[in-house]
Amino acid sequence: MYNLIRRFLFLFPTEGVHYFTMNSLKLLCSLGIGRSLLAAAFSPKPMGKSKWSVAGLHPKNPVGLGAGFDKNARYLRELEALGFGFVEIGTVTPLPQAGNDKPRLFRLPEDQALINRMGFNNDGVKRVAERLKKWKQHVENRSADKPKLIIGGNIGKNKVTPNEEAWKDYDSCFRELHPYVDYFVVNVSSPNTPGLRELQEKESLGKILRHLQMINNGKAVAKPILLKIAPDLTIDQVDDVIDLALEIKLDGLVCSNTTINRAGLKTPADQLEAIGPGGLSGKPVRQRATDLVAYISQKAGGQIPIIASGGIFTGDDAKEKLNAGAALVQVWTGFIYEGPAIVKRICNTLK
Ligand SMILES: Cc1cc2nc3c(=O)[nH]c(=O)nc-3n(C[C@H](O)[C@H](O)[C@H](O)COP(=O)(O)O)c2cc1C
Repeated sequence: MYNLIRRFLFLFPTEGVHYFTMNSLKLLCSLGIGRSLLAAAFSPKPMGKSKWSVAGLHPKNPVGLGAGFDKNARYLRELEALGFGFVEIGTVTPLPQAGNDKPRLFRLPEDQALINRMGFNNDGVKRVAERLKKWKQHVENRSADKPKLIIGGNIGKNKVTPNEEAWKDYDSCFRELHPYVDYFVVNVSSPNTPGLRELQEKESLGKILRHLQMINNGKAVAKPILLKIAPDLTIDQVDDVIDLALEIKLDGLVCSNTTINRAGLKTPADQLEAIGPGGLSGKPVRQRATDLVAYISQKAGGQIPIIASGGIFTGDDAKEKLNAGAALVQVWTGFIYEGPAIVKRICNTLK
């Protein structure tokens, strides 16, 4: 059934379809009956007392939604009805920004992949924090039996902020979102903000992460802080990340973001050239992301919790990541290609 719907949706521009489908779901979920039908169709059965955890967080199932899908925290109720155990909102920046010119999101159906150069389009941290505050109030007012959707806050810097000042952007996003999210992800690995990935160097990273940890330690309740890394890091850079993570007792890594590598794609070279730069996601990053999870897990002796992201479409893909050492998994491109039953299918395989 979803194959047919996907074929139809794929006739239209990618970004427009994203908002059209999510807004249609929002309409459906505005009626209690619509929400119940959606949850009955797509939510996985409860998985018992959750054995899945990262940094003290216990989502109801190990399947989360990766950052960039609900950048502005506008679709939490709908994503909860689709059964996600956790949702990472963002990347959020201090000031709102429009992102890059459209078109900036492209499908590569032959590779079951996407290329995006969105450029951190988002409403800015203040508006996103307001939405999260309302969501928190909504959750507090409902029955305590209902399992809680874990919310991650993925934070970044504005395009106009020079790298030397980047720590200030992470600081303000961290402070604004702190009351409303369950964990943080520091994003220095998106390829679509010029110079951002230079912040993955040990010194710059250490400065940002130590600063956030200092603020965190001053709070009544500290929130886990994770770092999201690129699959394009050299081995030396990965080793630096591992050393730093162990040294500062980072709560975990999200492994990994999109890649700028285009090797081995079935999509013809002229089409790739016409699409231009951006981060590649989906099936082509699966193996690289798994290798990275396995490498970090082994090298760190399992001491760094990992949320795996990259090319997860099926329960077997999720198992591959968990077997490599991940604690939880996230989907993004797989959601587009596999459709709304993806969480349920993965959970059924993992039971
Ligand atoms: C359109 C699009 C936008 C994304 N935006 C973000 C983002 O804002 N922040 C981030 O950390 N990752 C972002 N990502 C990366 C995803 O969260 C994920 O890490 C990556 O796509 C690999 O997973 P996948 O193969 O399941 O898609 C984005 C991915 C896509 C496809």
